[in-house]
Amino acid sequence: MDRELISNSGTNPHFERLLTALPAPLNSRRRLLQVGLGSAALSFFGLPALAAAADRPATGFTPIAVSGDDLVRVPDGYTVQLLYAWGDPISDGPAFRADAGNSAAEQAEQAGMHHDGMHFFPWVENGQPSSTHGLLCVNHEYTDDGLLHPNGMADWSHAKTLKSQNAHGVSVIEIRLGGGAGVRWQLVRPSPYARRITARTPVRIAGPAAGAAAMRTGDDRRGNVVFGTLANCAMGFTPWGTCLSCEENFDSYFNGLEQATPDQQRYRIRKNGSGYRWHEHDSRFDVATEPNEANRFGWVVEIDPWKPTQAPVKRTALGRFKHECATVALASDGRVVVYMSDDQAFEYLYKFVSRDRFDAGSPAGGGALLDVGTLYVARFDADGRGRWLALVYGRNGLGESSGFADQADILIRTRQAADLVGATKMDRPEWIAVHPHSGEVYCTLTNNRQRVNTDAANPRAENAFGQIIRWREAGADAAAGRFAWDVFVLCGDPQQSDPNKQGNIKGDPFGSPDGLWFDPAGRLWIQTDASGSVLNRSDYQRLGNNQMLVGDVVSGEIRRFLTGPRGCEITGISATPDARNLLINVQHPGEVAGRTDPETPLAGSGWPASQFPEATGGRPRSATLVIRRRDGGVVGS
Ligand code: FEO
Ligand code: CA
Ligand code: CA
Ligand code: CA
Repeated sequence: MDRELISNSGTNPHFERLLTALPAPLNSRRRLLQVGLGSAALSFFGLPALAAAADRPATGFTPIAVSGDDLVRVPDGYTVQLLYAWGDPISDGPAFRADAGNSAAEQAEQAGMHHDGMHFFPWVENGQPSSTHGLLCVNHEYTDDGLLHPNGMADWSHAKTLKSQNAHGVSVIEIRLGGGAGVRWQLVRPSPYARRITARTPVRIAGPAAGAAAMRTGDDRRGNVVFGTLANCAMGFTPWGTCLSCEENFDSYFNGLEQATPDQQRYRIRKNGSGYRWHEHDSRFDVATEPNEANRFGWVVEIDPWKPTQAPVKRTALGRFKHECATVALASDGRVVVYMSDDQAFEYLYKFVSRDRFDAGSPAGGGALLDVGTLYVARFDADGRGRWLALVYGRNGLGESSGFADQADILIRTRQAADLVGATKMDRPEWIAVHPHSGEVYCTLTNNRQRVNTDAANPRAENAFGQIIRWREAGADAAAGRFAWDVFVLCGDPQQSDPNKQGNIKGDPFGSPDGLWFDPAGRLWIQTDASGSVLNRSDYQRLGNNQMLVGDVVSGEIRRFLTGPRGCEITGISATPDARNLLINVQHPGEVAGRTDPETPLAGSGWPASQFPEATGGRPRSATLVIRRRDGGVVGS
């Protein structure tokens, strides 16, 4: 699906109003609070000065070449293990059928499609976080409904709609490293924690927009429970041991009106959506029938993996947009800060700051901190400074005179509020990562070929390769109202003749950065998602399949660590606390421009375009992989 289209055509007015400007390790039974766990969680402490050169972690592997092969390549001395592919049972449920013949009910007990953001929650054993046992939360961002059913999109039906909905959402699985010859990770089957949250699972709505008139539907007259979460892209994790799953391209699932309202246009909810056909058999996805259902998607969803019967919660104080990720930090005074991005061309970067402080002494109520606080949007000024602009009713011109009824209205129409306060239109913000020692924040801006008017933070017109931007909050405090920023790297290919496409990478070339993560030592892991329409051709001719690289944020050097199979993106990244097991996802192997349908294969693309991971002629399957060093050392060191 085309993620580059614009729905922000406005010219932002600039309100030139000057803005005035932890604890011991804890556990509760098996839950490990992600605070005070050595370097893995230092970002939750106060934020000292920028990492000094002395902090530089070694990057010891030999970088690999680009690849167009239909397999995963890693440096010498590393192994890759397949852990969890689309259709694998989450517990002791039904096995995957290679012809995609599993029913909708079976799909609800199996891995969903198109794995994306992911986080490993370690077990606590003898008061210590385990690096051999834990829970893994995995997002299933979207489905290729051509691949999902034996005969693809043909004879579209209620049963196919149900299966598609059940292949969305999130997996919670229990995983353990087995001993003996050939060290391998396995799912624990059965597991009382194993759980699928789908596009049909009841989800509570919390925060200021809960119960608002625009959140009420025929199914939910109170506006506080919605069936399901979908378009779950990347995620974050909280100091109280929960995961934040982000609803990104939710508009794709709705069949909009012939004449969309301005609010619907701003979120790109249009007639016939992006080719999903759910609305034909589930009227809540038909805007003419249920005009408010689309207001109930586009949120950050909190999931407690340790409580398998507890409903997930949509945290509306964090705003409604096409959420890519929700990266959590703690401010100097313990307030919770969530960095967020809206992934569409010319959309914005946001952060939420809680009103109350996280109390490691009583972490159980942590989630409620996400219901009360201030949402901000970023403005990047040409002088290398920036401001966080509050999206609060009665401030910055947001009120009755500008068309907002109350704070719930501002949160449901976050994009429109951000337009009014003069936020900077970015080149498709994707993942955000906070340096574990310095607190410096990095964000991938994946590309934006439609950019004409450049600015300092988005400096290239027709930006085909993207960039990584970074900022330092004033006073090294994540809750600060101002920051200093620069561009960490302009991606590109130095062999391009057009200087605009060469980039300034010190090291191995790449484009379309998306996944981004700091390991505990401070290595920056970068994952790419160049679309199937450009991979290995035109601008991307020399860049191979999508890949993962490791950056040194002090020297700026970037080395290629992994290349993926054909047509995939590399995304999702987490590790065990000892950093000796790196978990990543291969998403949509074999994806071409359009659906991967056995009945209507696209000319020249073949069927399937990838056989990953089986290489036996079967359907390609998104999958979680575990990467280890053969000698058991820290991955990337
Ligand atoms: Fe789901 Fe913006 O990637
Ligand atoms: Ca992404
Ligand atoms: Ca992709
Ligand atoms: Ca992407």
